[in-house]
Amino acid sequence: MVKRMALVLLLVVAITLYLASTSAQPVPGCQTYCGDIKIPYPFGIGANCAIKTGFEINCNRTADGTMKPFIVNIEVLDISLLHGQTRALNAMSTYCYNHATGSMYDNTFWLDFSSWPYRFSDVQNKFIVIGCNTLAYIYNSKNRTGYTTACASVCASPGAVTNGSCSGVGCCQNAIPKGLRRYDVYFRNVYNDQDSWQFNPCSYAALVETKTFNFSSDYITTKRFNDTYKGRQPLVLDWVIGDETCEVARNMTSYACRSANSVCVDSTNGPGYICNCSRGYEGNPYLLDGCTDVNECEKYPSKCPKTAVCHNTKGDYRCSCPPGRKLAKDTNSCNPDITLIIALASAVSF
Ligand SMILES: *[C@@H]1O[C@H](CO)[C@@H](O)[C@H](O)[C@H]1NC(C)=O
Ligand SMILES: *[C@@H]1O[C@H](CO)[C@@H](O)[C@H](O)[C@H]1NC(C)=O
Ligand SMILES: *[C@@H]1O[C@H](CO)[C@@H](O)[C@H](O)[C@H]1NC(C)=O
Ligand SMILES: *[C@@H]1O[C@H](CO)[C@@H](O)[C@H](O)[C@H]1NC(C)=O
Ligand SMILES: *[C@@H]1O[C@H](CO)[C@@H](O)[C@H](O)[C@H]1NC(C)=O
Ligand SMILES: *[C@@H]1O[C@H](CO)[C@@H](O)[C@H](O)[C@H]1NC(C)=O
Ligand SMILES: *[C@@H]1O[C@H](CO)[C@@H](O)[C@H](O)[C@H]1NC(C)=O
Repeated sequence: MVKRMALVLLLVVAITLYLASTSAQPVPGCQTYCGDIKIPYPFGIGANCAIKTGFEINCNRTADGTMKPFIVNIEVLDISLLHGQTRALNAMSTYCYNHATGSMYDNTFWLDFSSWPYRFSDVQNKFIVIGCNTLAYIYNSKNRTGYTTACASVCASPGAVTNGSCSGVGCCQNAIPKGLRRYDVYFRNVYNDQDSWQFNPCSYAALVETKTFNFSSDYITTKRFNDTYKGRQPLVLDWVIGDETCEVARNMTSYACRSANSVCVDSTNGPGYICNCSRGYEGNPYLLDGCTDVNECEKYPSKCPKTAVCHNTKGDYRCSCPPGRKLAKDTNSCNPDITLIIALASAVSF
């Protein structure tokens, strides 16, 4: 007997999102940190601090008294301008056996970024299912003709699973397509296997950052997985400024790469673009004077050979070797200047 609990709606989508106020540059006095997490423009906390509504971050006090950033109610771990990515904590859907009633209870979450600038990174996330004899689906409840796939995790006994390995026994993982913006999860009790619930109290499923996820056999037999991470796991989101390509965006008044020495980069995960500082520059390409020259000469280890003197230039650097020596670019070393030796040799022979 399978009993289903109501869906828990995680993200309320504001349809008018992209029509709302925009700010080509943040107004003075915008908060740049929430707790100890940096919130760089185009993101912002509060009115006129973000480039558009979808980039607004809530900075809320949490139960433990600290301030934490949220996309509506999804906790943000960090924002990377360099890669156009935000890491956030995603709620795991659960499917648990209730010994008292002998029924299964599911608590499933969905995420919808359809009118937000986010897509699930297809490179850094996988759809992960933990459990014994668990079949979970990932699909889009708003578009049944769209992407759907399943992941089946099986195990004959708790002893059959291997720590650190998520390859179908106790743990299953599946790749997702590019450009995915919404997903729903549902569990199916296909195996009709009451025995496994004796040692496997709960199954879990979600889109999860692959790098930080490490399967452990006791995730099957205990609730440690849920207890340790409060039912959440990191998820990587690729974000874009608008849905235009760089070619089109460059001609628009809303073009977001505002800094001199910035470049436009087309997203590799669906339509849209992000900005980057040009080579040899670093900083924030979305701010007017955001990209500043990198002083390569102050970098350690030095980019020049040991005996050379480094000269920083705008966007680049130059190495000058001591007298009588010449920079060999391929080996990055100061070699004896052969033309000088030949010149000297011919001078001597006269
Ligand atoms: C944070 O605060 C905003 C605005 O008050 C609210 O809409 C949002 O739901 C809050 N998020 C959380 C996780 O408390
Ligand atoms: C932005 O530039 C940096 C350094 O030049 C590079 O490491 C990074 O991959 C670039 N980001 C994108 C999205 O191209
Ligand atoms: C639903 O998904 C299909 C296949 O990916 C796609 O062609 C179609 O445009 C989608 N419909 C909506 C309303 O997003
Ligand atoms: C896997 O790791 C957990 C936690 O570190 C440990 O309790 C368990 O015995 C390990 N299982 C196997 C099969 O090595
Ligand atoms: C995963 O956890 C196991 C112990 O359960 C450990 O031996 C292994 O190094 C961890 N792997 C990663 C990538 O953290
Ligand atoms: C998992 O942990 C969360 C947060 O602590 C809790 O609300 C939820 O009930 C737990 N779920 C299960 C199945 O234990
Ligand atoms: C952008 O503007 C330039 C100069 O005004 C024009 O030559 C070019 O065709 C335009 N590109 C697009 C994609 O509209």
